[in-house]
Amino acid sequence: MRRKLVIGNWKMNGNRAANSALLSGIAAGLTSTGADCAVCAPAPYLAQCQAELAGTSIGWGAQDLSAHAGGAYTGEVAAGMLVDFGCRYVLVGHSERRAYHHESSALVAQKTVAALAAGLTPVLCIGETLEEREAGRTAAVVGEQLGAVLAAIAVADLARLVLAYEPVWAIGTGRTATPQMAQDVHQLLRAQLAGVDPVAAAGVQILYGGSMKPDNAKELMAQADIDGGLIGGAALKAADFLAIISAAA
Ligand code: 13P
Repeated sequence: MRRKLVIGNWKMNGNRAANSALLSGIAAGLTSTGADCAVCAPAPYLAQCQAELAGTSIGWGAQDLSAHAGGAYTGEVAAGMLVDFGCRYVLVGHSERRAYHHESSALVAQKTVAALAAGLTPVLCIGETLEEREAGRTAAVVGEQLGAVLAAIAVADLARLVLAYEPVWAIGTGRTATPQMAQDVHQLLRAQLAGVDPVAAAGVQILYGGSMKPDNAKELMAQADIDGGLIGGAALKAADFLAIISAAA
């Protein structure tokens, strides 16, 4: 059985005081050990996560990383630096990076390789836009996004990936995929993984993201191939984030 995993993506929100209140609220309310959880904070606050979460069962990670290991890349953050601050996870290829920072599938694949090389767990985000879904291109789009990464990593590293299916039209819109719509895509993704290594594919966690809230989390995560959630807005309130973790457990 795959363990459930719930990750909060804070996006570009928070400050020292608000983060502290949120993290202590999550830590104080976390009773269940039935699911794993983590937060992905803006890079300047990773040290704060490390200081405040060390010794808890809450993991932390970053929202992006450089494809390069170091050097003259002004403004970028290397995988090794994330490791230095205790990160376990790093999001790669979030749709906001793909859309606003023009990250191609090839760059996302290089970032995934960089994360793996540093010992991080990459959370590879993939998903189609509304236009692509309505044109019947969902399978082709997510297949290309995943395929670029599968072509770049070693087969032996497949088991170290976490995937997050995030339909772009469901992110921050309050419009969630139905459990069946999400399950259909998750199943496709797992089949694609199985084409590389069936044993590893059966163990890879595939999270759903896009307006997951306390009131829809349980039904989504009850689907056979939905192994947790990548949560945006609802991860900024301790009570909501805790309720989703409980729904996963
Ligand atoms: P929302 O939960 O706010 O829709 O965001 C989802 C997301 O993009 C998480 O990475």
